[in-house]
Amino acid sequence: MTDARQDDSVTARPDPAALDERRAGDEIADLSARIAQANEDYHRKDAPVLSDAEYDALKHRLLALERAFPQLAHPDSPTQAVGAAPAEGFGKVTHAQRMMSLENGFSDADVTDFVARVRSFLGLRDGDLAFTAEPKIDGLSLSLRYEDGVLVQAATRGDGTVGENVTANARTIADIPHRLTGAPAILEVRGEVYMSHADFERLNAAEGGRVFANPRNAAAGSLRQIDPAVTASRPLRFFAYGWGQVSEPLADTQKGAVDRLAALGFQTNPLTRLCHDADQMLAVWAEIEQQRATLGYDIDGVVYKVNDLSYQARLGYRSTTPRWALAHKFPAETAWTRLDRIEIQVGRTGALSPVARLEPVTVGGVVVSNATLHNEDYIAGRDSSGAPIRDGRDIREGDWVKIYRAGDVIPKIADVDLSRRPEGSQPYRFPETCPECGSDAIREPGDSVRRCTGGLICPAQAIEKLKHFVSRGAFDVEGLGAKQIEMFFSDPLLPIREPADIFTLAERDARTIAKLKNRDGFGARSAEKLFAAIEDKRRIPLERLIFALGIRHVGEVAAGILARHFGTWDALIAAVDAAASEPAFAAADDKARRAALTDSPNWAELTSINGIGAVLVQSLVTTLTQDAERAGIDRLIAQVEVLPAAARQVRQTEISGKTLVFTGTLERMTRAEAKARAEAMGAKVAGSVSAKTDLLIAGPGAGSKAAKAAELGVAVIDEDEWLRIAGGT
Ligand code: IVH
Repeated sequence: MTDARQDDSVTARPDPAALDERRAGDEIADLSARIAQANEDYHRKDAPVLSDAEYDALKHRLLALERAFPQLAHPDSPTQAVGAAPAEGFGKVTHAQRMMSLENGFSDADVTDFVARVRSFLGLRDGDLAFTAEPKIDGLSLSLRYEDGVLVQAATRGDGTVGENVTANARTIADIPHRLTGAPAILEVRGEVYMSHADFERLNAAEGGRVFANPRNAAAGSLRQIDPAVTASRPLRFFAYGWGQVSEPLADTQKGAVDRLAALGFQTNPLTRLCHDADQMLAVWAEIEQQRATLGYDIDGVVYKVNDLSYQARLGYRSTTPRWALAHKFPAETAWTRLDRIEIQVGRTGALSPVARLEPVTVGGVVVSNATLHNEDYIAGRDSSGAPIRDGRDIREGDWVKIYRAGDVIPKIADVDLSRRPEGSQPYRFPETCPECGSDAIREPGDSVRRCTGGLICPAQAIEKLKHFVSRGAFDVEGLGAKQIEMFFSDPLLPIREPADIFTLAERDARTIAKLKNRDGFGARSAEKLFAAIEDKRRIPLERLIFALGIRHVGEVAAGILARHFGTWDALIAAVDAAASEPAFAAADDKARRAALTDSPNWAELTSINGIGAVLVQSLVTTLTQDAERAGIDRLIAQVEVLPAAARQVRQTEISGKTLVFTGTLERMTRAEAKARAEAMGAKVAGSVSAKTDLLIAGPGAGSKAAKAAELGVAVIDEDEWLRIAGGT
């Protein structure tokens, strides 16, 4: 990838205000794709390739662009996501009110700033301003819906908008009342499900050893059991600390509302205090931190909330967090240990990810023996723009390193102790060939990651691709996980070397005498079960197929957008082939090629899709038209039935499918809001009037566009008429 937008030093990019809408749109799409890829690396693999700082820089840049161009902000943007998308297996629940996240603070100054910001927002110079301070429970949040006092639904947070329906499981938790007396007719109670240390130890011992890494994972795993009887056997607890939809207010203050929840029968945290200034808040933080080790359950900070609920209402929300609350985190737990070796893992897109193998050490109650090293710059002690990190100290095999774990994340290396560096140690030389297949491993300009160029001949890439292919958001074949893929990949008699092989497995098994049912770990029943699970996935929705192919930059969000846009596999592949047939696609000079492509209509067919940027299109077209890749995909397509994607449901309105142009000044709605409304009603909004324009909305001061519309006979309406159509009179 040689696109200049791939440059990781996002801080050096032009001010968003200096960009035109098209360039901003491209950059937004590319950043979204890279963040989605990073999220996936982080959640599905053991070795994220971007450091936290790099990840944050990408997210900041995306936010800045979305603020400057709100009309381009995509509803599925990673800046809008609070957590991970809901897992398959449970019904989905759309929360009546979104479940928000919390802004984090780490220092005393963050707390004094928070108090000052709240005061200034409310215009309160002096005068009383109270805050509650309470422990931040390290569990998972749950929303309980009561109607006329009866528990009717329990849902996890999911991505904040849509969660999982875990009602049957929540009913088995002793702290959760099934009925309430004297509650508002509609009441959503929000709080945290957690497991105590003692119960966690007992559970792990009963399950015969270390099953769950920590109480948080144990609580999450227990709540998300398909069989409620299993959840019932797990000792889960619940603290209530908030609410969602309510038919009448619970109280005037945060403290009063939580007391009311306690009176209704919920457990609320006994360490909750009322504070009147930042000094008191910091004192409570220190007090709670002192008690942390003896509380008997995990907490990872203190949450402050503005006490007066009318102030909370005025302060409102940013995109994913309330302005009226702050989570003041405890410092991450750290420990020193020796780094034995640096190993390189090769991912499905060929990325070489360095992993530190450590002398095992306990950090915050969990034994850690691996940590991510992100990429070669990180090891060398510099960030992707070349600036020093750790004051330029590099990391070497044999070094003493400081490990930290914050919450439930992959351990990282915070520092290195040069005074304990072994004599004669050498700087780590990052391999320039793939350790798995020996092909050259190269770094494109601006990319922080070195990649193996072996493609399909690289066994590591092939295995990782297969693992991705059967993973949750992709084909999700039950009984065919990472372990089985490794086994089948090197099986001499019934090999699975590419996705199509999965669907010929049963047929090959029937023809061979080395049958699966006679292998170690398989019997007649489990072999049949596996064949049935594979058969079950032979009919596959288009978006899952696109995602499953594991094309770089094409994550779940982009796969969904492409599927809805093209509807069928044939339509998508025809557009890709047409784009590849542009003579400029094969041209050698990248810069000239990009310019020529941008202007070609076949290329624009792909790049003009909202949410799909130039870097993604480049990767999509290159991958799908590469001969060997394409042959493998064709073999797969011959084995499966691809279910067409339904276009996103949009309201049928009088402007559905029409092309609109706005001009002049709109007085009662911003241009961004007008565009968003028009698009939500199924219309397209263009920047200039042409023969394709159906309707011009002209406010005062309309000039050349109105003249052009008149010349072409395009219908023209004013803002009042527009408001009638948009339903905003
Ligand atoms: S209030 C609108 N209070 O922390 C604000 N959250 O990092 C809603 N959490 O999603 C959250 N203890 O799962 C709140 N005392 C507490 C909490 C708490 C733990 C969790 C909650 C939230 C996450 C944000």
